Amino acid sequence: MPHTKVRDLLASASRIAVLTGAGISAESGIPTFRGAGGLWRKFLAEDLATPEAFARDPKLVWEWYDWRRGLIAAAQPNAGHRALVELENLRKEFALITQNVDGLHDRAGSRNLLKLHGDIWIQRCTTCGAQRNEARTPLEEVPPRCPCGGLERPGVVWFGESLPEEILARAQRAATQAEVFLVIGTSAVVYPGAGLAGVAKSAGATVIEINVEETPVTNWVDYSLRGPAAEILPQLLS
Ligand code: APR
Repeated sequence: MPHTKVRDLLASASRIAVLTGAGISAESGIPTFRGAGGLWRKFLAEDLATPEAFARDPKLVWEWYDWRRGLIAAAQPNAGHRALVELENLRKEFALITQNVDGLHDRAGSRNLLKLHGDIWIQRCTTCGAQRNEARTPLEEVPPRCPCGGLERPGVVWFGESLPEEILARAQRAATQAEVFLVIGTSAVVYPGAGLAGVAKSAGATVIEINVEETPVTNWVDYSLRGPAAEILPQLLS
């Protein structure tokens, strides 16, 4: 049974903010990036997740994103995603900040969701800027084209690109106002997302990490619970 103190803290806090990473989707069968079997162990980020890579070979980049879309479409939100929906339903002030682009938090029913790195189900035209949701996978046309004829790109944030300003500002505000800040399933190495736990800590929040292994934030968070998110999160609410 996880730390009773953490359960009590969650039960009594009225303002909660959460940061999630790829680890929360691992138990849904979605590979993480840096863990065992992680995407960046098999593929080169610079060949697939940068504006330069897209300019060089949009077809290769889209083939990779469509492969990931296929994996995600076949997956289901897990008990960890669902527990965060339950926590949101129980709290007046709750913000879920995610680095994930997989859309599993949406499918689980999360509402106050701040997507720092965009959404793999959104496509944006590189000519006219039009954006649309495209749930079909595999894609009919690779690379896909906008009705204006322009080349579309995945609606995600690539390495070397800035995060959506308004979403980052709302995430920083939620971290600053939180009494309890949960850091779940992230290696906490990609900024500015990874920096939000520090923002919350400096503003006086109790910071709680849930991860199957240690990360760079483990030695300064208030509590670090070791184990799979889909096992620990439901127990923290029961
Ligand atoms: N439960 C909890 N934590 C888990 C689980 C699990 N079942 N499985 C793996 N983890 C942890 C790993 O130990 C690791 O610390 O999740 C973390 C996943 O780390 P990364 O693969 O680095 O993913 P993330 O932190 O989300 O990456 C940040 O980097 O590649 C970019 O844009 C991409 O959003 C991504 C960002």
